[in-house]
Amino acid sequence: MSFPEQRPRRLRRSPAMRRMVAETRLHPADLILPVFVREGLTEPVPISSMPGVVQHTEASLLTAAEEARDLGLAGIMLFGIPTTRDAQGSAGLDPQGILNRSIRAVKDRVGEDLVVMSDLCLDEFTDHGHCGLVDEAGEVDNDATLEVYAEMGVAQAEAGADVVAPSGMMDGQVAVIRQALDEAGHQHVPILAYAAKYASGFYGPFREAVDSQLKGDRKQYQMDAPNRTEALREVELDLAEGADMVMVKPASAYLDILSDTAAISDVPVSAYQVSGEYAMIEAAAANGWIDRRTVITESLIAIRRAGATNVLTYYAAEVAGWLREELAGSRGSASASSAQTPPSAPAHPPIEPRRPTASTRPADQPRTDAGFPPVS
Ligand code: PBG
Repeated sequence: MSFPEQRPRRLRRSPAMRRMVAETRLHPADLILPVFVREGLTEPVPISSMPGVVQHTEASLLTAAEEARDLGLAGIMLFGIPTTRDAQGSAGLDPQGILNRSIRAVKDRVGEDLVVMSDLCLDEFTDHGHCGLVDEAGEVDNDATLEVYAEMGVAQAEAGADVVAPSGMMDGQVAVIRQALDEAGHQHVPILAYAAKYASGFYGPFREAVDSQLKGDRKQYQMDAPNRTEALREVELDLAEGADMVMVKPASAYLDILSDTAAISDVPVSAYQVSGEYAMIEAAAANGWIDRRTVITESLIAIRRAGATNVLTYYAAEVAGWLREELAGSRGSASASSAQTPPSAPAHPPIEPRRPTASTRPADQPRTDAGFPPVS
């Protein structure tokens, strides 16, 4: 027997071999696209700190939703930006407000073929930019905010949201929203809880994206970066309050939190690759310092490997396009950096848009499985 006896490199020798032994894969149905729709626009407006991402008009939003559906994405997450704001965030409650009417319009357009989710938070709608109501002492009033969230959740469900996603990190928010939905006859509308959401500098570009009015920070309600055990407490509380899915956010700098969460959660776990994560990749790629496609793919694989069932990412549509291209071609490596279809490529059937179903990944399968759902 020659030395070395063990040669793990044998399984890395070709793209086909690496594909066979890959423990984690990406699929379009793993990806959720966050989208911004801004009231009063006549043209989409680029977000300078997020090259390639725009604030949509109400019309261009529908095109983006159709594209997301045709690509077989898991869903889209809608953020609305109103023309007028007030201290109460009234525009978020108004059934005719930008977010609620956009939910309705998108739902009318894509029907049951795409999961339409809505951000359930006040920060886009308040003139002070906080996620809740601010009391006389200048503090974000947890319990007063809960009543508003309850009403907002019902308004979003009434507009047709398939999933509501409370992101404000108020204590008790999942329970009050669940109760309000149930009382209003929306027992079937799931809650995706931003359970472990950290006060993060990685949200920087999002402030431009939603024209945020915030001065200061959200450290009194979002989690503190040093804390890991506390994240489990937040996740457990949200599960006890009835969360149907839980989220960790941001993603890349919090993969330990994601891994911990996946280990204890018996519901699907989402991770949000946030605006700053996107911006850093774009900036480095634009400088030629990293290979854009390789790093985007690697970043998403890492998030899935850490335990995410699905990933919210501004790259969702682009990456889904790559995945389709790779599967349609003869070179199916998820890390292929230029997957052009050779002229003689066998005619594999194209990926049909998948109807997202609850059965995509059985709950008893490990979260880091290689479970690549069928592509038709
Ligand atoms: C709050 C919300 C934020 C993001 C998503 N929902 C901002 C914040 O908490 O400060 C950030 C998303 C991103 O940075 O991409 N409604």
